[in-house]
Amino acid sequence: MKHLTVVKFGGSLTANIQAQDKFLKETAKISRTQNIILVHGGGPEINALLEKFSIKSGFVDGLRFTDAATLDVVEMALSGKVNRILTTSLIKNGANAVGISGKDGRSVICKQIKKFGFVGEPTRIDKKLIDILMRNGFLPVIASIAADVKGNVMNVNADTLAASIAITFKARRLIFLTDVAGVLDKNKNTIKEIRVKEIKTLIKDQTIIGGMIPKIKGCVNSIKKGVKEVWIADGMSGIQDIKGTVIKV
Ligand SMILES: Nc1ncnc2c1ncn2[C@@H]1O[C@H](COP(=O)(O)OP(=O)(O)OP(=O)(O)O)[C@@H](O)[C@H]1O
Ligand SMILES: [Mg+2]
Repeated sequence: MKHLTVVKFGGSLTANIQAQDKFLKETAKISRTQNIILVHGGGPEINALLEKFSIKSGFVDGLRFTDAATLDVVEMALSGKVNRILTTSLIKNGANAVGISGKDGRSVICKQIKKFGFVGEPTRIDKKLIDILMRNGFLPVIASIAADVKGNVMNVNADTLAASIAITFKARRLIFLTDVAGVLDKNKNTIKEIRVKEIKTLIKDQTIIGGMIPKIKGCVNSIKKGVKEVWIADGMSGIQDIKGTVIKV
């Protein structure tokens, strides 16, 4: 089996057409010779749709509180919009992209975290569908929606999902592409390298806050479970000439 790279494409980048185009061109090209699984979020698209429907929603520890009305909108934005845009563009660039969500083929089973509403944490990943796609030369593009054991739809943080997928598929690399130049210190300079043991302090002293929290937790998890190379990287750099923060044991 070829080396696998799991890329989480931040929803935060969907407004950055230049970064998005560069990444999708690059990914389409690389996907002809290497295995890639793309996982994406969609924060801004979700916010824009929530506003259109006049639905209010808030965040707790970087995770969105999701009631039933918000969940509908989240699925519309992720599976209906962002997933379509990324898949279509990859196809235009010559990749055999297939857009799914974690729910499809019961690929991602999650457990509800009630304090966040209809939010789930992945507990089991069934490799079958994604394996079938990859073995046949398709590039899976996965929206961060999953279902619990009973099939109830849940919103899953895309960073957490990307880490779970990287672990399950024994990825060599996990890359979080986002709208900042990696993990920044308090002076807004990129921290080039972070050791796992330094992370607690960075969260405690609030260097790392909000949307960076699930990302860094995903890094720790995946490194501990065998992913060799883990990055939080600048969406503008793409994945070939990657720039940002590398997280190490
Ligand atoms: N130490 C830090 N360094 C850099 N960014 C940080 C830090 N702490 C918090 N952040 C915030 O994390 C954000 C990135 O996470 P965010 O969830 O907004 O984007 P994303 O995960 O790429 O997109 P999405 O959640 O839509 O998939 C940055 O834009 C920044 O505001
Ligand atoms: Mg995020």
